[in-house]
Amino acid sequence: MNFQEKISAITKIDLLHGVTPLMKLHNISEYLGRDIYIKRDDMTPLAMGGNKLRKLEYLFADALSKKAKVIVTAGAIQSNHVRQTAAIAAMYGLQCVALLENPIRSHNSLFLNNGNKLLTDLFNADCYFCDELTDPNTQLQELIEKLNLQGSYIIPVGGSNVLGSIGYVNCALEIVQQKPKEIEFAAVIVASGSAGTHAGLAVGLQAFLPHTPVIGVTVSRTVEQQKPKVEYLLNQLAVQFNLSALPEIKLWDQYFAPCYGMPNDKGQQAVELLARKEGILLDPVYTGKAMAGLIDNILKETIGGNQPLLFIHTGGSPAMFAYSEINVANI
Ligand SMILES: Cc1ncc(COP(=O)(O)O)c(C=O)c1O
Repeated sequence: MNFQEKISAITKIDLLHGVTPLMKLHNISEYLGRDIYIKRDDMTPLAMGGNKLRKLEYLFADALSKKAKVIVTAGAIQSNHVRQTAAIAAMYGLQCVALLENPIRSHNSLFLNNGNKLLTDLFNADCYFCDELTDPNTQLQELIEKLNLQGSYIIPVGGSNVLGSIGYVNCALEIVQQKPKEIEFAAVIVASGSAGTHAGLAVGLQAFLPHTPVIGVTVSRTVEQQKPKVEYLLNQLAVQFNLSALPEIKLWDQYFAPCYGMPNDKGQQAVELLARKEGILLDPVYTGKAMAGLIDNILKETIGGNQPLLFIHTGGSPAMFAYSEINVANI
């Protein structure tokens, strides 16, 4: 079996129904003096889109095959992952139980109730709350026991285990098939959080576009903290696909300050730039900060050569409605 056949052999349910667009950002390219392409995974076709759908295609296939009745997951109050998980659970008539943390300890009512949380409630998820997800797997296990849930299936934070990450190995194949033949991207830039998107893309691109590195822009951790997370998933994927070599892990960690879930100026400027030049919505927690990293590194000329770059738009714009009053001085 070749690599592509190995991917196809893993069971998933088709929730994507096609591909997401890969397009050039003409105005931003002109503005920055470098060609920038974007993969629109914010346009996956469920519940206002986002990167989690590709992971959940595999995770729900597994849950359904195990006859799960309750999907249990965790994330921030404004989690895009929980929103998309709750939507798919609703679609399959499964109960969704979510354990939500408040990473910025906000008391703002839009943050607590609007955006992703409003949609998660609309999809009828049962939400429970904690201050912090310090050890999510244990915390979820405790919640399952406390609620005496029968037939539960745990989807980890961000859907980032080996199965979920395969969604982005698959996405790498989609990118190769879509990209203009004459183009070789200098790098693919993506937000790196629970790391499944980053690890999956890195493994997929190593196989299909070996000269194109993936650069993860961290949204919550320093390089030292994030690297083991990416590495763990890369190792698991290597076992899954019987790989002899792993891709190099490249991370930028200068763009997430002051912390996960708190907007910063460069991120906000990137959100505004994409809105005003391309009519594209980023978000304050993930893609705004990742795009800030891309822009900063173009300005500093740290990405060699002048070949185009590909930005993976992983979604997140529903959070904008929850964050309209949140800044460092006012949480
Ligand atoms: C909009 C958005 N972008 C990027 C990410 C990061 O993806 P990953 O958790 O796979 O690293 C997330 C994770 O929740 C997200 O919601």
